Amino acid sequence: MSQPSPIEPPDRGSTAPAGCPVSAGTAESDPPFAPDLGIGSSSTTPYEDYVQAGVLTHLQHPLSEDPGEMVFLVTTQVMELWFTVIVHEWRTAAEALRRDDLPVAMAALRRSAYELEALNAAWKPLARLTPAQFNAYRSALGEGSGFQSAMYRRMEFLLGEKSASMLVPHRGAPREHAELAKALQEPSLWDEVLRMLARRGWAVPEAVLERDPALRYEPDPAVEAVWAEIYAGSQESELVRLGEVLTDVGELVMRWRNDHLIATWRAMGAKMGTGGSAGVAWLEKRARKNVFPELWTARSHV
Ligand code: HEM
Repeated sequence: MSQPSPIEPPDRGSTAPAGCPVSAGTAESDPPFAPDLGIGSSSTTPYEDYVQAGVLTHLQHPLSEDPGEMVFLVTTQVMELWFTVIVHEWRTAAEALRRDDLPVAMAALRRSAYELEALNAAWKPLARLTPAQFNAYRSALGEGSGFQSAMYRRMEFLLGEKSASMLVPHRGAPREHAELAKALQEPSLWDEVLRMLARRGWAVPEAVLERDPALRYEPDPAVEAVWAEIYAGSQESELVRLGEVLTDVGELVMRWRNDHLIATWRAMGAKMGTGGSAGVAWLEKRARKNVFPELWTARSHV
């Protein structure tokens, strides 16, 4: 065991501002106070205990010698973290809807919309790769592809974009496979929205309410009619507000897909993907998919 740090915490006096993060005073004891250098044990700090920055900042293992690969890897890792937070928010929202707690559901959905904005902003460093820049490390990626992202798949499942075959790439990873298999069987966020509407007396068909949640959601004209009626009513109603935050989420997911498509197009043209797909042509088809479809089609009838 090493000895505790010999650095003594500065004397903050009686007026020290709690948690003041900056240091610009003339002497250590002058305000504004410097952070406490003596905090923490010999091996770690409370920040490290909470954030695990030492783990997070040592998970970068580029596969090529190309200096441009680091930002590709880190952007992908950053996006995985955003996927994780967004899945957390949508699960929180789905559970809240199940118990008719609309304020908690709305708060989680609003947070997720801000997080989606941050996720989409993370495209910036990769959005303008030239084919030669991407080629410099592309072959090192082997058959690795974002298509194999389990957390992205959970996002898609929560949106109702279910597919049992999407579990196949994860059969060698028991934890991810189990989480995805569970998510496949669970009602999506949209299923929970429609069940909540039915409990409030809206005419959501039985067939929609009792559908197999493990199957991809197919739009229904009666659900479209429900949303058209909600949207024709008071713009201050909580259901219009719910519809709008879900529309924000849908729009931002579609923007992520589109930004990904355009970045891919710029970086590799019409070449095949490392995951074995037709590349841009396949992504184009995926990007055309609607999120919460009746929220979009209902607008033509209001
Ligand atoms: C410019 C860099 C990128 C290129 C050229 C690219 C290319 C591709 C291609 C061609 C596919 C189709 C599957 C395949 O055959 O591989 C794909 C899928 C995918 N990529 Fe990327 N990608 C890039 C960056 C990223 C980043 C940073 C992420 C973040 C995690 C990501 C996540 C995904 C996901 C989730 C899919 C599956 C989409 C779906 O299932 O609809 N990609 N990518």
